[in-house]
Amino acid sequence: MNEARSKANHKANRRLFLKKGVLAAGAATAGAGLLATRLSAVSHGTEEKSGRLTPGDASILRFLAAAEILETDLWQQYNELGGIQDNEVPGGSGSPLYTAALKVLDGDMDQYIHDNTEDELTHEVFINAYLASKGADTVDLDRFRTLPSSKATGAQQIGRLTNIMQLTVDTTWWTRYRSRTKNPDLGDTFPQAVPALAVGQHPAIPRSDDDLTPSDHIQAIANTAGFHFGTIEQGGTSLYPSLAQRVTNVEVLRVVLSIGPTEAMHFQTWQDKAGNAPALTDPKDQTLIFPNLNVPPFGGEDFQTNLIMPEPTGFLSRKLPACSIVRPTGTKGAAMGALKFLTAMGLFLGQSKEFFAFMTDLAEDADEARRDVE
Ligand SMILES: [Fe+2]
Ligand SMILES: [Fe+2]
Repeated sequence: MNEARSKANHKANRRLFLKKGVLAAGAATAGAGLLATRLSAVSHGTEEKSGRLTPGDASILRFLAAAEILETDLWQQYNELGGIQDNEVPGGSGSPLYTAALKVLDGDMDQYIHDNTEDELTHEVFINAYLASKGADTVDLDRFRTLPSSKATGAQQIGRLTNIMQLTVDTTWWTRYRSRTKNPDLGDTFPQAVPALAVGQHPAIPRSDDDLTPSDHIQAIANTAGFHFGTIEQGGTSLYPSLAQRVTNVEVLRVVLSIGPTEAMHFQTWQDKAGNAPALTDPKDQTLIFPNLNVPPFGGEDFQTNLIMPEPTGFLSRKLPACSIVRPTGTKGAAMGALKFLTAMGLFLGQSKEFFAFMTDLAEDADEARRDVE
């Protein structure tokens, strides 16, 4: 059987399972406390239960839960080495030289990294708990925690979901939010702020203590992290409004609309800090150049570092007046787009086929969700 047909059959079977699950849950709703308990205890598999949520809402929340688990995993790695390790965000013991290099971007970087990490953890835990409270299946990625930790002093030696030691960082968000005419939803494309980060593979944390010197090398790693923070959080800033457009239930919409803007708060902070990354060339990788974004050939409205508020731009139609907005927010294929974006940055280098199949399933289900009248 060819791959496309096998995939189509697989999806058809899954949809059948979903339907059966919904019917069973529907038929047993009256006085079925036992069933509800059992449904919430079922782990994610081919028979996802949506409980009292519409299948579409449950699918959107499950994809978001998975995205938040992945975000937590990468932020946890940053916090162990460059944040504040405490009982709110336990794990690791810090890397003083990496932490100091991050603080060149802002004296409070360790606090911000800690707080971003804690926020993602609460997003993950809340969305899964909300799903369970509605009798819907939750998401658990623990079996995919197989990637290695950094060997640098300060990192925990545990299995990871994400790889932040070989990143290809797309920095087009920098010019996308500065453009006064262009919008990716209208088909526009944008230049990179740091072209060297968009090619090759770059560590955003020290891979071992060898990465701690010379000082411009660990600074290049901290700069990479500084831009990666913005790349990740602008993704979350777009993902929530993109998926919210296909949510049906008003309370689920409230969940999505209340979490999404915190991603924008993160993004706004990181965009400001990335602009403080010192211009330099990595002495251990001469191709990795961080330019001064305020002077030619950079500089001007598209690159100036203090232009951190989103410039008004075209929205919905170029016939309408320019508007200061999050972009992109197109809803078609938004979940798969997010998965492709994370994959393209190298975040899952080393992950298993099963991981990609599982994440693709979650994204496809989320993208099949349609807004219904209840
Ligand atoms: Fe989040
Ligand atoms: Fe986030």
